[in-house]
Amino acid sequence: MASRYNEVYQSWKSDPLAFWAEAAKEIDWITPPKTIFDPQAGVYGRWFPDGTLNTCYNALDRHVNNGRADQAALIFDSPVTGIKRIYTYAQLLAEVNAVAAVLKDFGVVRGDRVLVYMPMIAEAVIGVLACARIGAIHSVVFGGFASKELATRINDSEPKVILTASAGIEPNRVVKYKPLLDEAINLAAVKPEKVLLLQRPQEQATMIPGRDFDWGDLVVAALAERRTVEPEEMKATDPLYILYTSGTTGIPKGVVRDNGGHAVALKWTMKNLYGIEPGEVFWAASDVGWVVGHSYIIYAQLLHGATTVVYEGKPIGTPDAGAFWRMIEEYHISALFTAPTAFRAVRKEDPNAEFLKKYNVGKSLRTLFLAGERADPDTVAWAEKVLGVPVIDHWWQTETGWAIAGNPVGLGALPVKHGSPTVAMPGYDIQIVDEAAHPVEAGKMGSIVIKLPLPPGNLPTLWKQDARMTESYLIDFPGFYKTADAGFIDADNYVYIMGRTDDIINVAGHRLSTGGMEEVLASHPDVAECAVIGVKDELKGEQPCGFIVLKSGVTRSPIDIEKDIVKLVRDKIGPVAAFKIAICVARLPKTRSGKILRGTMKKIADHDPWTMPATIDDPAIMEEIMAALQHKGV
Ligand code: COA
Ligand code: AMP
Repeated sequence: MASRYNEVYQSWKSDPLAFWAEAAKEIDWITPPKTIFDPQAGVYGRWFPDGTLNTCYNALDRHVNNGRADQAALIFDSPVTGIKRIYTYAQLLAEVNAVAAVLKDFGVVRGDRVLVYMPMIAEAVIGVLACARIGAIHSVVFGGFASKELATRINDSEPKVILTASAGIEPNRVVKYKPLLDEAINLAAVKPEKVLLLQRPQEQATMIPGRDFDWGDLVVAALAERRTVEPEEMKATDPLYILYTSGTTGIPKGVVRDNGGHAVALKWTMKNLYGIEPGEVFWAASDVGWVVGHSYIIYAQLLHGATTVVYEGKPIGTPDAGAFWRMIEEYHISALFTAPTAFRAVRKEDPNAEFLKKYNVGKSLRTLFLAGERADPDTVAWAEKVLGVPVIDHWWQTETGWAIAGNPVGLGALPVKHGSPTVAMPGYDIQIVDEAAHPVEAGKMGSIVIKLPLPPGNLPTLWKQDARMTESYLIDFPGFYKTADAGFIDADNYVYIMGRTDDIINVAGHRLSTGGMEEVLASHPDVAECAVIGVKDELKGEQPCGFIVLKSGVTRSPIDIEKDIVKLVRDKIGPVAAFKIAICVARLPKTRSGKILRGTMKKIADHDPWTMPATIDDPAIMEEIMAALQHKGV
């Protein structure tokens, strides 16, 4: 079909308020908004400021009331433990009510924070929705983060209660959550009043009497008593959640999502961007700890009356490279959304897609969506060839909560250009500018910015940090939001995302700050100075590589210190950092004014062409860096 994209994008551009007023009709409001946007409120304006609603009601109750009670709402599949369970909308609502009742018994009231540190199990989604029901602000922390990162998030969000489980399942090990959580609470200045913990059969966690409570006792009892909790009437502008993401320092940014704009935007994307109808199964193979998981494991499918999937496995090794195909066939999945790295992993393991022959994927699968990192044309072409369905790259950030650029399948797909996530979605006026904020011509690289205001669903601010919000995103290019991505727009308005303009690197679709890692390296007693860069990696896109200069007088062997450093990053940030390369060097290359030349070091490590920076203090140091990298096999 011919795409309606241009017509719809223009309709937004000519009257944004009418566009979002229309989209808002898809949500069941308690008080429908009269004001669509207030430019005077908040940091750059607020959406639907006089509307009230409950997000959990929109995700569950309204479907139960409208004939979807017995339809699958959530599919849980855990290939390592062999557990599979399908929750209907009515069952999911009952479970959410039970957890909401327990949270209320704990004294949690609207506006309180509840931190969720859970593996990929259905209870993580249930816990989050229970918070939304009672108006508590959830903050999910990814399970691959270690205690120090968790402690930072506890200190910033000040949760009254923490929801957790005894363990998560990685293919090579059982990850014990409780010791990590206990250590984090010890480290944190702010102490939660209560912890609600789900004991899993793989690991029995030790409980602290008076503080820790067993999910199995309390929630199961509440479920047996069929307890229900009225959904709290929330202002559209009240925070629904805080999701921490890497910033340019070791202190993560608490991205705030509101209730109203979030519900409106996500609902709009399901049909128009993803082409999904209510009742269909849409699987985002991500993690509830990331923004993709928040939007497309927890909320969007449920707001739309579709079915979501919680998969506690990997694309490979659980048990093999046919894992995704098995899921698609077994649950009649219409669209899969994952990171390109997952497809690179499958391709590496099964280059001829032999496992695909065992499953009937074509019966249900219509589209593969990719995001989270640059989709390299090679991987996209391979996926198109083996799956025989459109492969759609789309670009977004934790801050935006949904796609900034994409190919709107529901409006009729535009031609795919490999290497481009296609075009700006309605709501986003994307521009490419130079350092002086002047627009650059088509095809020229520059900073990617979005004209304010950001559309509904985007962050209104950072948690308790309006000033940091302005400083991080709004100051450099007045009137625009700085994405901190660089790229270009071609003559057909296709956007190309080429890399970050800050210290963020993307490792296996996970967003990490090299600045944060440098803080950890610098904390080692033998380290005088350090630099961390992201180097190209065939599977993960990038992997971190740390250079360290030892203090004079250090007598321990550099190899031992390098091992210490690798362990230190794993212990402090977590396994997700995938920090495996630490290299001791005599000196770091710097400009005459003392700035470390990370960009040139990266080019050398990536085997890209490079030139000696004119400002370098001592060119001989680059030779030393090259030799050190070669020695390590990088
Ligand atoms: N809890 C605890 N540990 C976790 C974890 C979790 N939730 N998630 C990952 N880890 C650990 C891994 O076990 C691994 O530990 P190891 O060093 O002991 O092997 C480490 O963190 C690094 O994880 P990752 O970078 O994800 O690599 P991997 O080898 O486990 O898997 C892929 C590689 C490509 C299969 C995997 O990264 C993947 O599927 N990525 C998809 C990315 C994604 O979902 N991005 C979200 C945006 S869409
Ligand atoms: P996160 O906030 O974790 O979702 O990471 C956001 C960052 O990931 C973006 O700023 C980009 O640098 C990168 N990213 C996400 N999606 C894409 C994409 N489709 N193409 C290129 N980069 C992407």
